[in-house]
Amino acid sequence: MRIDIISVLPELMESAFNTSILKRAIDKGLAEVHFHHLRNYGLGKHRQVDDEPYGGGAGMVMLVEPLDNCISELKSQRTYDEVIYLTPDGETLNQKMANTLSLKNNFIFLCGHYKGIDQRVRELHITKEISIGDYVLTGGELAACVLADALIRLLPGVLNDEQSALTDSFQDDLLSPPIYTRPSTYKGLQVPEILLSGNSKKIEEWLHEEALKITKEKRPDILK
Ligand code: ADE
Repeated sequence: MRIDIISVLPELMESAFNTSILKRAIDKGLAEVHFHHLRNYGLGKHRQVDDEPYGGGAGMVMLVEPLDNCISELKSQRTYDEVIYLTPDGETLNQKMANTLSLKNNFIFLCGHYKGIDQRVRELHITKEISIGDYVLTGGELAACVLADALIRLLPGVLNDEQSALTDSFQDDLLSPPIYTRPSTYKGLQVPEILLSGNSKKIEEWLHEEALKITKEKRPDILK
């Protein structure tokens, strides 16, 4: 998977890809992440990337020309499966969407700033708009990191225990059951007896029951 991220603040995202599982995925060649500083495509001496909105109103708008130039340059180098604009107006990210997208290979992520992007960028290039939740961030960078993380961890070979992505919360429309490790008793709190029983069939049934119970309690909306 290759992800090209266009941003005015690429430094904000660096550590997300330089650490832990995402770093390992990149080092193993399973994912490539490339930052493109929009300022390099800015206009004039000041490398301008935004301007006031036509019709007035608060906030600045990201200019069409630098974005078009940057995206067009990338598109001239390879074919992209999706050009994604991270924006609170987008479709809300969920596990199903992450699963579907993780099967694709080449992405451009565009991180919005200020008031947003000139509408013509959407018309020219954007194939999908994604929000990471109903709240507003200062820019799309953290959302781009969230989306990239959700996709990259699903790639075969990224997680050590391949099963663990399949048993995540949400993968089967259930939240995760409670989990425990040593010691079996702590401050009077006991690990459920069944988990110490060694009866894997019974354990599996119990885990499923618990997952159902927790989902009913916390997220009845995701239960089919
Ligand atoms: N940019 C600002 N807020 C955002 C959000 N909630 N999701 C995606 N991109 C954003």
